[in-house]
Amino acid sequence: MLKITGQIAQICAAGMSVFSLAAHAVTVTIACGSSGNDVEFCQKHAEAWAKKTGNTVRSYSPPNNPTEALALYRQQFAAKASEVDVLLMDIVWPGVLRDHLLDLTKYAGDATKSHFPAIVANNTVGGKLLGVPWYTDAGLLYYRKDLLDKYGLKIPQTWDEFAAAAKKIQDGERTAGDKDFQGFVFQAKAYEGLSCNALEWVSSYGGGTIIDADGKVTINNPSAAKALTMAAGWIGTIAPKGVLNYSEEEARGVFQNGKSAFMRNWPYAYSLSQKSESPIKGKVGVAPLPKQAGAKQGAATLGGWNLAVSKYSKNPDAAADLVLYMTNAATQKDRAIRGSFNPTRPDTYRDKEVGAANPFMASLEDVFANSVARPTTVTGLKYPEVSQAFWDASHEVLSGKAKAEDALKKLEGRLNQIKRNKW
Ligand code: GLC
Repeated sequence: MLKITGQIAQICAAGMSVFSLAAHAVTVTIACGSSGNDVEFCQKHAEAWAKKTGNTVRSYSPPNNPTEALALYRQQFAAKASEVDVLLMDIVWPGVLRDHLLDLTKYAGDATKSHFPAIVANNTVGGKLLGVPWYTDAGLLYYRKDLLDKYGLKIPQTWDEFAAAAKKIQDGERTAGDKDFQGFVFQAKAYEGLSCNALEWVSSYGGGTIIDADGKVTINNPSAAKALTMAAGWIGTIAPKGVLNYSEEEARGVFQNGKSAFMRNWPYAYSLSQKSESPIKGKVGVAPLPKQAGAKQGAATLGGWNLAVSKYSKNPDAAADLVLYMTNAATQKDRAIRGSFNPTRPDTYRDKEVGAANPFMASLEDVFANSVARPTTVTGLKYPEVSQAFWDASHEVLSGKAKAEDALKKLEGRLNQIKRNKW
């Protein structure tokens, strides 16, 4: 049990080693994720750390939606306080939370050398290491192997092939009596996840990354408009109108219930789909997201989570120790095998058990290596506003309230307004 009361914690400590622990045992509060098997794994390992060190861990449940979680932390940090010692930090947050996180450099030491350098660089702001990499994400196309076979289809390579396959399976299954069967589910709610999905469409069409590396707003272009128009065409044809309110877990709920032929989601959804109670166990394939006809490849947005320590923690040493335990090779291996969380340590990918549990991790190495970053480095503190403007514009197009060309023109103006003279 993770939420141990002070009393029980003392008993634990006494039971282990009265002399070494009594003076130093502390309580560290960790905000694990709150979706899928995130909580289960995070709590399990945090508890193992508590047992090993004689400390106590308390679990804090942040909102499931990363946009809301970020808002909550910012609110707490603005008061120079936080209810948590250790928090999960999205790969797009270091620039936003930079003034409120502990520099972990001295704690991490050489440990950072074992992680992908690009993620360590992403988490280093002004020379300070603000988070240790925990797992990395990229957008993937989940498909039903059995249904592609049933309808004589191949894994779709282009968006056109994809939409045609989704339609064929949806029509076939509905005719066969499954009236609410869907072709495709994805994340189109107005939040950070929609920015990730929309960036994939735009980028796969060669429409850039909203803002380029020099800080120029590039989103108002014909390729981006085509990409958003394509996605708007899916709503109510191959995807339910409800996707306009779906985040990752809603999409997974439909797909895992056997009610959709395709799903766009992150790696974590794989292990859940393979659980013994899953109706689609053994029927799921994972492929790169489709590309535009004629293009070399599609695009996957880079995601992922890191562990950070609040600058306002009263127990920074213990909190940092917990972070290093949670991100070590053994923990990442266990999370990869049992939770399909992509490790941030290249060595862990070479582990046979990891490969056997998650065939896609090796077969999609290219997808992970070439994933597209959101424009966080260049926009720094202003990234949340940028992303919100982008998901709002995308949501308007998807819900039929605006034409892509108009929405992107307006978005360009809004982004330049947020930028003012500089990012
Ligand atoms: C995943 C990604 C994260 C992204 C979020 C959006 O959790 O890892 O980077 O911001 O999805 O919903």
